[in-house]
Amino acid sequence: MQADIGIPQVQTKKIVDVLHRLLADEHIILTKTRNYHWNIRGSSFMELHKFYESQYELLTNLIDEIAERVTQLGDTAIGTMKEFLETTRLEEGPYHHQQDQQIKRLLEDHQTLCKHLREDIDQSDKYDDPVTTDFLTGVLAQHEKMAWMLRSFLK
Ligand SMILES: [Fe+2]
Repeated sequence: MQADIGIPQVQTKKIVDVLHRLLADEHIILTKTRNYHWNIRGSSFMELHKFYESQYELLTNLIDEIAERVTQLGDTAIGTMKEFLETTRLEEGPYHHQQDQQIKRLLEDHQTLCKHLREDIDQSDKYDDPVTTDFLTGVLAQHEKMAWMLRSFLK
């Protein structure tokens, strides 16, 4: 049943597009982070294994909230790997064993997503959805924090 919460249907569609792109991007970062969590080797194994786990737990929670925001708007969230790959603005890329490469690649993804999120927030604001705008601002804050942690591993 369609949601009747004061946002015109045409605007809801645009906001859902924004949320779907973000949902797809989060899945790329989540998968990359879990892959690194599973396969990391070397002298910093335990530190990074745990660090990646703490990050993918945050990402898992974010993903749930993004998808549920779509459903609160009365739409159906995309939920297949095919859709995520078709919708994402990020690159999957091959697996890398080198710790610095892993950190750099994740940092790049989080920083790219921070830039996209600023545009997403502007879009959401333009379509008069303060709840999504506020929510996306919170998502941006979390990615800025995750980026800072990743950046701190590098010299
Ligand atoms: Fe694990």
